[in-house]
Amino acid sequence: MKSKFEMIVIALALIVTAGVVMAADVPPPWAYGFVGPVPSGTPQAPVPGPAAPQPDTSLKSLPGSSSQFTRAQISNRYGPADWYPGDHPQMPPVVAKGKEPQVWACSLCHYPNGKGRPENAGVSGLPNSYFIQTMKDFQADNRKTSDPRKANTNVMTNIAKGMSDDEIKAAAEYFGSMKWTPWIKVVESATAPKTRPAGGMFLMEGTEKEPLGARIIETPDDAEGTEILRNPRSGFTAYVPVGSLKKGEALVKTGAGKTVQCGVCHGADLRGMGPVPPLAGRSPSYLVRQMFDMKQGNRKGQWTELMKPVVANLSDDDMLNIAAYSTSMMP
Ligand code: HEC
Ligand code: HEC
Repeated sequence: MKSKFEMIVIALALIVTAGVVMAADVPPPWAYGFVGPVPSGTPQAPVPGPAAPQPDTSLKSLPGSSSQFTRAQISNRYGPADWYPGDHPQMPPVVAKGKEPQVWACSLCHYPNGKGRPENAGVSGLPNSYFIQTMKDFQADNRKTSDPRKANTNVMTNIAKGMSDDEIKAAAEYFGSMKWTPWIKVVESATAPKTRPAGGMFLMEGTEKEPLGARIIETPDDAEGTEILRNPRSGFTAYVPVGSLKKGEALVKTGAGKTVQCGVCHGADLRGMGPVPPLAGRSPSYLVRQMFDMKQGNRKGQWTELMKPVVANLSDDDMLNIAAYSTSMMP
């Protein structure tokens, strides 16, 4: 029989191990668009049903656009508003309109210009072969989210599953034909504007500030313009902790004894190299989600193998610092 002392040691070891495993499993909520950690046992959020009717039927406008749209038109899953047709090449049907019922138009979430928002992804300027491969990974359920509350990742998977190879190719070529240009401003700060979570984004309310802590708060410069009007010319500001850029730079450039130099594969300026996707200037929330999902094994596509040793020893703070720096490397 084990002594009382041994039993206590074993019990303590179990508690400590459980604690560590749990801590490592809980996704940083800010990167997934939530305020608190995900309660254990939360089921995967389903793909949302039909869109709710939109009571506000007034026509909305944006400066520099000759078109006007109602709110229902702006968020139409099968042909959302295209405010500035002159800003982008002609969209292939799958991007502009999708394919009912399963394939929602890419332009709804990623915008016609592919800039995207923190809760989805910037998809313009991605290498063609990477775009196609990652769509195959979505189709094969190899790009799952670590936060079961994040329903739109499941929507993305569902969309990919409804697409033909030709449609994937057309979308890859369309978005790949547009260069990535500045879209997210990075500001080191001890505070961030007070925000509320809304559909995976954090929206500013008034002018109040709150302590930032160990988070990145990426918020639209014009909350209403982004949330309601989906203005594809209105970008974002990412508030990042003071000192994060320097720490991120060290990790990216040297590996800091914890990881592999990113430039080897992503290019010295992080603008991508061959089929390897670019990181420079992309949404920091998105970048952290992907690193976390890869570390957890929830993103496990065919090429993700190359990223495994890169993320294996990164802490949540390391990922935050890396993302802050990568986003600040504006092309
Ligand atoms: C309902 C919103 C929504 C629509 C519509 C949508 N996506 Fe997405 N997409 C997402 C989300 C959310 C992610 C990121 C998932 C995550 O972070 O877990 C994503 C990610 C992607 C990525 C990965 C980008 C990268 O850097 O790896 C590609 C490629 C993509 N989408 C292509 C498309 C295409 C093509 C369409 C249209 C056929 C489309 N999406 C329509 C929500 C959407
Ligand atoms: C050995 C090559 C290699 C190195 C080194 C490397 N990466 Fe990657 N990275 C890749 C490949 C390949 C992919 C595409 C993975 C996939 O398709 O799932 C990728 C994807 C990513 C993504 C997801 C991009 C997207 O659009 O979804 C992030 C974020 C990322 N890498 C960050 C980093 C960071 C940060 C470093 C350095 C600390 C780094 N990588 C080092 C090869 C590498």
